[in-house]
Amino acid sequence: MSSLIHLSDLHFGPHHRARLDEILLKDIAQLNPDAVIVSGDLTMRARNREFEQARDFLAHIPKPTLTIPGNHDQPILTPLDWLERFTRQYARYEKYIHPTIDSTLAIDGLFVLGLNDNHPALPGGFWTRAQRVWLEDQLARAPRGAVKVIATHHQLVWNGWRPAGFWRAERALEFLAARGVELVLNGHTHVPRAAQTRGGIVVARAGTATSGRTRHGNANSYNYVKIDEQEISIFLRSYDERADAFVAARAFTFPRRAGMP
Ligand SMILES: [Fe+2]
Ligand SMILES: [Fe+2]
Repeated sequence: MSSLIHLSDLHFGPHHRARLDEILLKDIAQLNPDAVIVSGDLTMRARNREFEQARDFLAHIPKPTLTIPGNHDQPILTPLDWLERFTRQYARYEKYIHPTIDSTLAIDGLFVLGLNDNHPALPGGFWTRAQRVWLEDQLARAPRGAVKVIATHHQLVWNGWRPAGFWRAERALEFLAARGVELVLNGHTHVPRAAQTRGGIVVARAGTATSGRTRHGNANSYNYVKIDEQEISIFLRSYDERADAFVAARAFTFPRRAGMP
């Protein structure tokens, strides 16, 4: 049995709810997951001080952690920011959060790959050809028997306007299914969701854990993920104002893919 806490869209900066940081850290200590995944939008406007706050929060997580940047983690406020956005898109992310943009996390029974999917000008999610080559190479080297997990910012399963999500998502999901991926973790919309594709991949989206910019009546939330021999379960935990706590809200259980390559 493996477990993950999946956080997303922390958005340090305006609208950030610092009170929830403390509660999250207590939940992480209590739930004791094998790892914590943070699927992008660590900041609101990619300001240096927002990245500092995100860095300090991550430093308090006493678990292996994998992060990826989100579209909000690219500088945007001034002409100089835009110059930086097109020349060194993630210099601040690399300085404060992690020295590489794409990264891997291998722990007992789990192999997690985090891929940036943001473009400095275009909306939606993309992987470059170089990233697909890297992904293929990494997946081929996954430890035998490990559950293969992908984290990327934009949603691969959604209803609605296309640029809100990953471009050509079905093709990406087929690519991942053919290489034995079982679980994909996304964020971006601030709306939690979980579904299983025809190819058997569980695609789980986390809402915003700590931003006041909640959407469509969804409270702040995160996902607690459990994986056993047979099933992948996603437990949505939503912030309840009266309890001043994240409480169990919904649960989704999916069978693991049969005949995995
Ligand atoms: Fe976001
Ligand atoms: Fe986003």
